[in-house]
Amino acid sequence: MINRRQLVSALAATAAAGFPCHSPAAPAASETPLPIPELLDARAQGNAVRLVAAKNPHTFLPGHPAQAYGYSGSVLGPAIRVRRGEEVEMAVENKLDRGTTVHWHGLIIPSHLDGAPHDTIAPGQTWRPVLKIDQPEATAWFHPHTHRETARQVYFGFGGLMLIDDGSGERFGLPRSYGIDDIPLIIQDRNFDSNGRLTYDAGPMTVMHGFRGHTIMVNGAVAPVAKVPAGLVRLRVLNASNARNYNLSFVDQRNFHIIASDGGYLAAPVKLAELVIAPAERFELLVDFSDKTSAVLQTTPDPFTPAGGGADFERLMTFKPDETKSAVTTIPKSLAAIEAPDTSKAARRRNFVLNDHMMGMMMGGPRGPAMAINSRSFDMGRVDVRLRQGETEIWQVESEMLAHPFHIHGVQFRVLSIDGRKPAPHLQGWKDTVLVPRAAEMLVRFTQQATPDHPFMYHCHILEHEDAGMMGQYVCA
Ligand code: C2O
Ligand code: CU
Ligand code: CU
Repeated sequence: MINRRQLVSALAATAAAGFPCHSPAAPAASETPLPIPELLDARAQGNAVRLVAAKNPHTFLPGHPAQAYGYSGSVLGPAIRVRRGEEVEMAVENKLDRGTTVHWHGLIIPSHLDGAPHDTIAPGQTWRPVLKIDQPEATAWFHPHTHRETARQVYFGFGGLMLIDDGSGERFGLPRSYGIDDIPLIIQDRNFDSNGRLTYDAGPMTVMHGFRGHTIMVNGAVAPVAKVPAGLVRLRVLNASNARNYNLSFVDQRNFHIIASDGGYLAAPVKLAELVIAPAERFELLVDFSDKTSAVLQTTPDPFTPAGGGADFERLMTFKPDETKSAVTTIPKSLAAIEAPDTSKAARRRNFVLNDHMMGMMMGGPRGPAMAINSRSFDMGRVDVRLRQGETEIWQVESEMLAHPFHIHGVQFRVLSIDGRKPAPHLQGWKDTVLVPRAAEMLVRFTQQATPDHPFMYHCHILEHEDAGMMGQYVCA
């Protein structure tokens, strides 16, 4: 059997052949302003928050009209503001000619509302889940979770944000003018043909690596520019890419503070100059622009991707501070009350091995490589794990070869260790997705019911791996 090092160098070689190290230089004749997803306040929507899933005309590259998938818009979707303690009825209408689902990634809700592969919305149908929001302030998101088609449906444009509000941001004095000093950044990599149309190839190599595109977009635009107040700006960063990690920093190496991870605020801001963000992860940053100097956000090679398997140095976008706007200037000293994880409450420990080895790939047959967890490829009709509602467990996850971002539905967990060491401070808060270089342990409390006809998923969030079978199902009663 091929070992990890051999596989990694083989991937690096094919990646180097297939992926240019630099995206086509596109010197902006005119600047593209950063698009801001429309804010939908759930309270102001009357009966239900309506999302229409459809294919629409959309121009990604100026002068090249193309098509994309979007929720109630030409690409991506709105940012839905919901409040803790409220019930929000969603009305998701499928205007595609194929089935889709909408999964509320990061929400702690019962499994029959979760929008996983068992909840297919047929063409022409409307799905109306009522979501009871009961978790701390955080940035969650929603995306398709269609059986064997998640990668494709996300790639062609579906994805939106859910901003959970419990009043904490206001209490902490954080910037909170949406689109002005509280800005979502949805980062994705894509490929375009010479006519500016999205291209996606799901060949075996794409399945092995996960899709990696030549062009990085922020909120659906290439190299956009955001005018920001000359003070503190809150960036809600979501990596909505199919497979790629980003290693974010500013070209001038300025520091920033991480204030929140997937499931909400950290105990205190964590100062960093460089941040790795894996697919599906969210981090919220406070960046200080009071020096009134333009700043360029870039990605550099991340330590978890084989050389050549992703962008080397690429500029994502530019921030231009504008002194006429009012600005927040104080970084809070402390944020959420987060206790140290208490492993003494764990009822048991479970092990999961994420199989991406050559044997697994050969099982795949004509549909391409098969990925698996504990040697079993995903089967919608099989329940892999049975849990007791209210219990806490330690989940240990191992990656065989590549680093995989592991996600569990229906929970927010605490990371206990990564590769045998205590996680870095910005990974010590609530999370639903963790990048597993070789091994990670997490402490998970399962509070939500999951019935056999609507099990919860756990999976790798490299969407090609998920679609190829690196996913399992749990019930919880
Ligand atoms: Cu982001 Cu199973 O999902
Ligand atoms: Cu999820
Ligand atoms: Cu994976």
